[in-house]
Amino acid sequence: MRHDAPGAPEMSGTRTEDIARLSDVVLMPNYRRAPVAFARGEGVRLFDLEGRSYLDFVGGIAVSALGHAHPRLTAAIQAQAARLLHVSNLYLIPEQVRLARWLTTRSGLDRAFFCNSGAEANEAAFKLARRYAHARGEGRWEILVASGAFHGRTLATLAATPVAKYQEGFAPLPVGFRTVPFNDAGALADAVTDQTCAIMLEPVQGEGGVHPATPEYLAEARRLADTHGLLLMFDEVQTGIGRTGTLFAFQGYGVTPDILTLAKGLGGGVPIGAMLARAEVAEAFQPGTHGSTFGGNPLACAAALAVVETVEQDDLAGRAEAMGSRLVDGLRDVGRRIGVITEVRGKGLLVAAELDREAAPIVEACRGRGLLVNAVQPRTLRFAPPLIVSHEEVREALALLEEVLAEVVGQVVEGGAR
Ligand SMILES: Cc1ncc(COP(=O)(O)O)c(C=O)c1O
Repeated sequence: MRHDAPGAPEMSGTRTEDIARLSDVVLMPNYRRAPVAFARGEGVRLFDLEGRSYLDFVGGIAVSALGHAHPRLTAAIQAQAARLLHVSNLYLIPEQVRLARWLTTRSGLDRAFFCNSGAEANEAAFKLARRYAHARGEGRWEILVASGAFHGRTLATLAATPVAKYQEGFAPLPVGFRTVPFNDAGALADAVTDQTCAIMLEPVQGEGGVHPATPEYLAEARRLADTHGLLLMFDEVQTGIGRTGTLFAFQGYGVTPDILTLAKGLGGGVPIGAMLARAEVAEAFQPGTHGSTFGGNPLACAAALAVVETVEQDDLAGRAEAMGSRLVDGLRDVGRRIGVITEVRGKGLLVAAELDREAAPIVEACRGRGLLVNAVQPRTLRFAPPLIVSHEEVREALALLEEVLAEVVGQVVEGGAR
């Protein structure tokens, strides 16, 4: 049936309800979307089709590192689009080489491979780990992953994401992943066998509910990798590019991986993923072993270069640290005054508030007052605003949240966090 056939919903206008109605018909129902559509953004603010303003503390799920319509990112994209969008990896791409140079010099790793998303970056990491073992003539292939991890939605990254709600109905999943309890160094050591080729960890589990790894855990993972000749791989798709207060979260731990994956904030909203590795490991990817048509194209790399240079020049990692600690302190104060919030945790501007009740109605009520947050777990609110967020905007977000929570518990806020 054609959707413009008589009787089918029409997107007769550009109003939110028209779009929502047609969205329900033409899009797959795999997302639970809020009934709001945004027309434009500016800094930490989004404006919906009806002109209402929102403080964006979702940040496109930890993507919009520079906020919306950042002049430098916009200019870089416009200039590159006017010059050259795409050529393929059959040819040299200067922007890709410059971005690889930037990322390798800052991370201490040696080589970069570019793709288009976090899942693809992790797929590349899994393939490189297996290929490296293969190149060394070792019969190892198993990768240890942590309980509560989230590595993506492709079949292999799903197999590495040991969470029933994501895996259900997709069996059989690729083999080669073994789950160990997160933050349990002893269990990690016990799980290493002759078949283990790598350990994959998030320094801070994002989708799992913003749970930081302990320093001892990551140090033990490094020690085990060195002792047994395994590759230590960090998935920094969510934590990378300044979000946790250092350029890469591993730098805050002082534990360097052999393989690092990035996406989300790297492009500031332009899709790009990256996998970095030590030179000796990267050698396992000889011509023809792996590839991507779009990966690292001129447009994505020009955008990512603008993002990373801005993050560095404006010390947005330092800002994430400072604003994150204000946000954490403020959330704790709100919890003390109102209740509802039982725990606050996080690193930099990746912060969670654990609630004593379902988070979904709170998310909705916040949106109604002009604050965007999301529920990363049923009772967990996540805050991942752009790294450019100001003290004033943090205060404003806290005040809006306090109003919502006060209403939920039937209190009157006097002054509150404002
Ligand atoms: C740590 C981590 N790894 C991988 C992914 C998957 O990234 P993408 O959705 O870009 O495939 C995510 C997405 O939330 C993530 O948080």
